[in-house]
Amino acid sequence: MTGTHNRLRAEITTLANGWRTRRIDQLFEQDGARATDFTREAAGLTLDFSKNRLDRHTLKLLLELAEAHGLRGRIAEMYAGHPINKTEGRAVLHVALRARRDHDLQVAGVKIGVEVETVKTRMREIVEALHHGAWVGATGLPLTDVVNIGIGGSHLGPFLACEALQDEHPTPVKVHFVSNVDGGDIGRCLAGLTPARTLFIIASKSFTTPETMLNAHTARQWLQATLPSEVDLGAHFVAISACPDRAIDFGVPATRVLPMWDWVGGRFSLWSAIGLPIALAIGMNHFEHLLAGAEAMDRHFHTAELTDNLPVLLAMIGIWNTNYLGAESFAVVPYEDRLAQLPAYLQQLEMESNGKRVTLNNEAVESHTAPILWGGVGTNVQHAFFQLLHQGTRLVPVDFILPLHNPFSPPGHHDMLVANCLAQAEALMTGRTAESLEVRGDTAADIDLPLHRATPGNQPSNLLMFDSLTPHTLGALLALYEHKTFVQGVVWDINSFDQWGVELGKALAQTLLDEMASGQVGTHHDGSTRAALSRYLRRRSPD
Ligand code: F6P
Repeated sequence: MTGTHNRLRAEITTLANGWRTRRIDQLFEQDGARATDFTREAAGLTLDFSKNRLDRHTLKLLLELAEAHGLRGRIAEMYAGHPINKTEGRAVLHVALRARRDHDLQVAGVKIGVEVETVKTRMREIVEALHHGAWVGATGLPLTDVVNIGIGGSHLGPFLACEALQDEHPTPVKVHFVSNVDGGDIGRCLAGLTPARTLFIIASKSFTTPETMLNAHTARQWLQATLPSEVDLGAHFVAISACPDRAIDFGVPATRVLPMWDWVGGRFSLWSAIGLPIALAIGMNHFEHLLAGAEAMDRHFHTAELTDNLPVLLAMIGIWNTNYLGAESFAVVPYEDRLAQLPAYLQQLEMESNGKRVTLNNEAVESHTAPILWGGVGTNVQHAFFQLLHQGTRLVPVDFILPLHNPFSPPGHHDMLVANCLAQAEALMTGRTAESLEVRGDTAADIDLPLHRATPGNQPSNLLMFDSLTPHTLGALLALYEHKTFVQGVVWDINSFDQWGVELGKALAQTLLDEMASGQVGTHHDGSTRAALSRYLRRRSPD
């Protein structure tokens, strides 16, 4: 840590202490230009961050902090294809997947544009074959239903995008998702499908993830159980993997294995062939619009001044709330039912990327890293967890996400939705005092009621608006959060692109599975795990 870092951190800490007695609503009273001055636009998105506990000076210092952490240099390193994912020795170039065709991005001195375009051409061929009924299954019937089997980054992005966009851009193919190893997930999905008409996409960067492999085997058994024994099941499978040999070993014909690359992290992969279910659900042209929206945000991130840079602003406001004002979590609340999967998607993006405790220099981090991300759609969540935001004891910043137009809304609905979103943001900021509330009667309970009804306010929020939910705006929105996550990782000085923490649980699960197979409970377990496993072995249903 240099003298500049320490000076900036000390100054920002002093400013944060001042917020014990300052209020956001008073800043609006003192400064008529606040709403305009704290709003920025890029790639079709508008970010109003005026309802945060910060002023111009705080913002200036936060941006200086980002500069002091070498943000510009780190962005340049990412675009130059340097192995910035140091613990895995990998470049991080998901931006190449949506870059314009003439880009010259490289990994280890090799241009990657041609390969990316080749895969997109193969995706388009698959999409067109299925949409035109030209892809037939083992019995000669056209395939009409597609089941994506994948988990984590091989599921969340495609699932979110399909849910968000398929109503407006329907296609002749119906796309389904299976991710959980809970047999109920695949069981429910297959119950409504006809084997002769079903195509499975096995989506797994590693092609070793146990949940995905078990679901893939169950899918194959389901086909085998009903299709004639002599038929070749190859026509019912497509695989997407960075390890194509494993997919071929599983039985997917080599011509139906689409590659991805180790320079694309799982949680950044919906832009790659992992996005095939999106292209099938909404059409390849609309998938290209999704990429174009992300590319517009990439260009903005790469070129805009830090003070106008949406991902940088969102990141530094998050750092201010987490590290200086003490927020332990933040909520993401889309006022758009079709974005119901956004919080789950962002949980993986932000918490798997930045839930880290060791710096790039192999030292313990000095501050908290990723806050806990949670959320749900408005207005539903107003009738669930918003009570805690209004009257609980914690500081919980909120990202409100608001499309200004919804072509599917019957008259009156969108006005009410927007009114609720703006009202919640306003109420969280202004609150109301006990003194402003009338005493109802003269019983003791009536006299004390205003205390129970008062809300302190001063809860910070961002408001992200866009015209309407389209492939382009969704692409820009997701790229915004991707880059925000990267910027925060730079300031926390951590590697946002590995996920070693998930290894231990996977290894222990394998040990437990081995013990279940042998029926022997290992003595190395703690007493609680031993007791639970013994109970399970006594009660489990026979296979
Ligand atoms: O949870 C760990 C993880 O490796 C994620 O990073 C990844 O998105 C997910 O598992 C699925 O991995 P794969 O695509 O290799 O099956």
